Amino acid sequence: MNQQIEPLASHPAPPCAVVIFGASGDLTKRKLVPSLYNLASIGMLPADFSIIGVARREMSHDAFREQMTKDMQEFATQKIDPALWDKFRERIYYCQGEFDNPETYGRLATLLEESEKKHGTQGNALFYLSVQPTYFAPIAEQLKQHNLVEEKDGHWRRVIVEKPFGHDLASARELNGRLSAALAESQIFRIDHYLGKETAQNILVFRVGNAMFEPIWNRHHIDHVQITVAESIGVEGRGAFYETAGAFRDVIQNHMFMLMALIAMEPPNSLAGEAVRNEKVKLLQAVRQMTPDEVLRDTVRGQYGAGTVNGKPVPGYREEKNVAPDSTIETYAALKLGIDNWRWAGVPFYLRSGKRLPRRSTEIIVRFKSPALSLFGDNEADPLGPNRLIFHIQPEEGIALQVRAKVPGPTICTRGVKLDFGYSQFGPVAPTTGYEKMMYDCMMGDSTLFHRTDMVDAAWIAAQPIIETWAANPPTDLPNYAAGTWGPAAAEEMMHRDQHNWQIPVA
Ligand code: BG6
Repeated sequence: MNQQIEPLASHPAPPCAVVIFGASGDLTKRKLVPSLYNLASIGMLPADFSIIGVARREMSHDAFREQMTKDMQEFATQKIDPALWDKFRERIYYCQGEFDNPETYGRLATLLEESEKKHGTQGNALFYLSVQPTYFAPIAEQLKQHNLVEEKDGHWRRVIVEKPFGHDLASARELNGRLSAALAESQIFRIDHYLGKETAQNILVFRVGNAMFEPIWNRHHIDHVQITVAESIGVEGRGAFYETAGAFRDVIQNHMFMLMALIAMEPPNSLAGEAVRNEKVKLLQAVRQMTPDEVLRDTVRGQYGAGTVNGKPVPGYREEKNVAPDSTIETYAALKLGIDNWRWAGVPFYLRSGKRLPRRSTEIIVRFKSPALSLFGDNEADPLGPNRLIFHIQPEEGIALQVRAKVPGPTICTRGVKLDFGYSQFGPVAPTTGYEKMMYDCMMGDSTLFHRTDMVDAAWIAAQPIIETWAANPPTDLPNYAAGTWGPAAAEEMMHRDQHNWQIPVA
């Protein structure tokens, strides 16, 4: 029987204003406004709320509302209810200004006061920094100078900081230092939207909420883990940013390290935020520091050339806007990591991510060891061979277990079959962006899913040998995969050396 999925929580967040710095940016229209609308549609946004977009260009409140209305036609994840949108829309405001100009903050303060009076936001405010990273600290500092982050009379002021959080260990520490000078740690919410995805949240539930998995969740029973974040899109007009980032910094060092932490961390003693975050930190701290030789052997960089994706010809990365014609930035990276603790010693974790791959798919495959004795013949050729537990994170959300079964008939012949669970079995679920949960949690003051300073530090420390060795050894073979293929041959070769293959994510 179908069950209805539980709403995100049983009550709406407290009254508040949501201030989005970078209101004319991509994230605002693609994710933030659709997420806030999604929250409103399930009654999780307070009735007393307002949204204030801050950006550089001149625009009236009405023009901004009009723009958001248009963008929602394209980016809403569910059918828009006109009555709800009308109510939502009239609570949207616009504040023009440069992020480093004090006058912007004067105007913002006025708008916040007006919001409080008109919409009953009670002095609570969530500031979302969806801006270029160079502005994270300056905005926090301006907010402090203008007393906009002062928490008095029982109201709260919180700041969500987008990624990338630093460019390496030193810059991340510097950013942390500046943010901490402007804000209390309890006010800083470093976001990783992958942690808000349904199936990502389900990893721990599945592991520790089912007694059958935990006893086998270790080096004695698990052969290896593969994590893939495949994207079919290119850099989508973000060439200038991507030239400073690359696949490793953009996706692997943050989103994928977090997925790995959820798979590999020790079960926390409780679901209290600090208990969960302590275990994530311990796991990241246990990632083996690679030597330069290991980096050169166990990592692969790729960059796409021209090719065909979804039947359409697309240009190579070097032809994209704001990308150097001889760029050596990686649009694909694959690596093998080790985790030096008692649970995982000797179990490789293979991570790969790339742009312009054949399709969008994020998947985690936990590959169990083969049975001790192959009673039913050698089935290695069978693509559904050894047991695998697969977490489909997106686009479809679900979990599958591959097991061996006897094929009907007079002889003993076996084949791999899939026990499949899709989120759609819970009943109709409106697709979400991953940001709903994160913004709701921030409004509720729950920082469990957000990064603590020591988590950011640990992730950069694990990444540092790769960053340094790559910088000292620029690749000479780029572009080395055609758009629309599964990445460079070297990534397959890395797996073959360990007698493995990358599993092609499900279509
Ligand atoms: C972002 C990266 O953090 O994550 C993008 O900057 C990437 O380059 C995106 O496309 C992927 O997120 P999602 O939720 O679409 O998988």
